[in-house]
Amino acid sequence: MENQQKVKNLIDLRVKAKLGGGEKRIASQHAKGKFTARERIDMLLDEGSFEELDMFVTHRCYNFGLEKEKYLGDGVVTGHGTIDGRTVYVFAQDFTVFGGSLSETMALKICKVMDMAMKMGCPVIGINDSGGARIQEGVTSLAGYAEIFERNILASGVIPQISAIFGPCAGGAVYSPALTDFVLMTEQNSYMFVTGPKVVKSVTGEDISTEDLGGADVHAGKSGVSHFKVENEEEGVLMIRKLLSYLPQNNLEEAPLVDCKDPIDRLEDSLNTMVPDNPNLPYDMKNVIHAIVDNGEFLEVHRHYARNIICGFARFNGVSTGIVANQPNFLAGVLDCDSSRKAARFVRFCDAFNIPVLTLVDVPGFLPGSGQEYAGIITHGAKLMFAYGEATVPKVTITLRKSYGGAHDVMSCKQLRGDFNYAWPTAEIAVMGAAGAIEVLEGRAIAGISDPEEKAKYITEKVSEYNEKFANPYQAASYGYIDDIIEPRNTRFRIIRAFQALQTKKVVNPLKKHCNIPL
Ligand code: HXC
Repeated sequence: MENQQKVKNLIDLRVKAKLGGGEKRIASQHAKGKFTARERIDMLLDEGSFEELDMFVTHRCYNFGLEKEKYLGDGVVTGHGTIDGRTVYVFAQDFTVFGGSLSETMALKICKVMDMAMKMGCPVIGINDSGGARIQEGVTSLAGYAEIFERNILASGVIPQISAIFGPCAGGAVYSPALTDFVLMTEQNSYMFVTGPKVVKSVTGEDISTEDLGGADVHAGKSGVSHFKVENEEEGVLMIRKLLSYLPQNNLEEAPLVDCKDPIDRLEDSLNTMVPDNPNLPYDMKNVIHAIVDNGEFLEVHRHYARNIICGFARFNGVSTGIVANQPNFLAGVLDCDSSRKAARFVRFCDAFNIPVLTLVDVPGFLPGSGQEYAGIITHGAKLMFAYGEATVPKVTITLRKSYGGAHDVMSCKQLRGDFNYAWPTAEIAVMGAAGAIEVLEGRAIAGISDPEEKAKYITEKVSEYNEKFANPYQAASYGYIDDIIEPRNTRFRIIRAFQALQTKKVVNPLKKHCNIPL
């Protein structure tokens, strides 16, 4: 064969490979409102930056006549490219080839890019759209999954791993995304479950739709499996690009520094009146966040899950920063099992990837009751405490209002190695709220007063005495537990100055194989 013909053959093969499972199946994918694997990668990466690998890999299965049905590249498109000029490794399951089901060779392709990502210290992004294990292959598919899982585990805390779910993701296949740092789902076409509706029906008798069992609403709002819920795939890839802008390439680097045009000493007068005079009235902590961060930009993680705590990324003077904040607008900002787990994982992510953490505190305590106790609030609360106490990144804490009891300790207090702990003058730092405290301390005396008017007067007096003594930041400041009491409108400047002073922070935890966080 002449060389020119060889080149032509190559071009033809490439064209064929790019058709995946063929035009009919591509049309069917589009008809479902889904993009193909290559279209998704093209949308995600900087234009023209994608370099595909393993386009000529085919499966090696001889069961069920599969040897007669081979597609170049098999059921996954893999390679590398750039996002905002920074290299990332990607794989996108191709539903047009055997429903994107995982074969031995597909697993090898995915593992190859994961290994490259680890070697190069670059994020890896997986786009999932698959019918699970390739049934015809049997155990080699299961082994392939486990090869991927092991890599997810070893890469955890070394390179950022992001999973987009743009189609089915069922059975054991869910565990690769679950092992990654962030999971993103689309409102339609995206579902995750360990066992599908048919199996659920046959085993438990429960009749449930795919959507209700494992759709984006379920995982973004109820289970917390998904960190981001987006309307469609276009929005999904933009979200991934935005998320990466806050992250470093790996655990040895810092997140990119962005030029900041927002004045660092911008005063925000609205903050001086943000906290209502009545301590039982809520306010929206997101207004505080938007007021203090660069350009009001905040990327919220887990927006729909455990809304009593807010987690997300923003910048201060161009430096990427993780924010954890109690939300008085939802369940009074109380800490419960879900919010503790949510924030704990977020703090650990930030710590693993050198992202400083700002904590905004307004927490009345842990949610009381048998429901929470039976669900293990002790262990879950301990997770958040562990995460803060273990974290060695710069930590700045601002107490805006309530900071009571165990929740005070958990929310990045000074003794959990908080670096700078400031309070607004509206802060109340105490063992418990006044009403509860007076009931405990004065119960016998109160019971001894028979006249109701006198009783009410006595309680009011004691409550105000308690509030005067404890419902303020000055007692904590007198012990140095609070480093300074700051004017609310000056919060942005004080945070930026604090993080600037912490830039050179070096703290190393005791040497160990690994910690034993209360899981
Ligand atoms: C081989 C598969 C496949 C699979 C789908 N296909 N799933 N081929 N192995 N697991 C093929 C179909 O035969 C079909 O081929 C094409 O993909 C598209 O599938 P459709 O069913 O036509 O598409 P759709 O109606 O959109 O339904 C998608 C689906 C369904 C819901 C994912 O295909 C499905 O239920 N698949 C089986 C899911 C499953 O039980 N997987 C195993 C789970 S156990 P043609 O040639 O017609 O295009 C598991 C264990 C992993 O994953 C353990 C890891 C630890």
